[in-house]
Amino acid sequence: MPTFHISSKKGDFSDTILMPGDPIRAKYIAKNYLDDFKKINETRLMLAYTGYYKNKKISVMSHGIGIPSSALYVKELISYYNVKKIIRIGTCGAIRHDIKLRDIVISLGASTDSKFNRIRFNFHDYAAIADFEMTYNAFLTAKKNNIKVHIGNFFTTDSFYTDDSMLNILNKYNIIGIDMETAGIYSVAAEFKAKALSICTVSDHIFKKEFISSKDRESSFNDMITLSLETALLV
Ligand code: HPA
Repeated sequence: MPTFHISSKKGDFSDTILMPGDPIRAKYIAKNYLDDFKKINETRLMLAYTGYYKNKKISVMSHGIGIPSSALYVKELISYYNVKKIIRIGTCGAIRHDIKLRDIVISLGASTDSKFNRIRFNFHDYAAIADFEMTYNAFLTAKKNNIKVHIGNFFTTDSFYTDDSMLNILNKYNIIGIDMETAGIYSVAAEFKAKALSICTVSDHIFKKEFISSKDRESSFNDMITLSLETALLV
């Protein structure tokens, strides 16, 4: 077995990968956006595909939910499969009133309630940040394609059902998206000298108690997928 959790051969992955949380979404992206794609992993049903987008070789693989799952896949992809550029394409919660369901948010950095980064950073506060060039390219691509994006600080939580007392603090500190992976993905990418960026669609508004149905999710992801693939062409 090449790594603990991935059964692909060396060379099966592109150096550039899109990573949704959900394996079904990985399959959706491969089927609808990639030419000549082939499935390269199904261990634990964490589906991975490699194909071509506008003649560029691109891989897509799900990373599961939470820092423990996403961080181990990212680590194995970088250190064994030579992946160098990672774009997480996920969903997130929102709390700011001007950020709406289906809006696209890009994580410039990610605060967290997880101890994952502290443990690895000798219990100091690690500033988990996106790769600048990828962020810049995503911003330019969004402008060029008339896709509205919010860019700012995320909060990565270990607990989907976040304690209510935290929500006002997140709002006060101008957090634009709440997810469960970005802070871990950014620190693992930094440790192994790869580039990473998280682009998310807002799937639920926590204060307004609104969410998009799993059926509606599919269509609202298309702008984010296009933005991510076009960004991947530039990095
Ligand atoms: N909280 C944490 N992670 C999430 C959320 C949320 O509201 N929505 C999608 N991922």
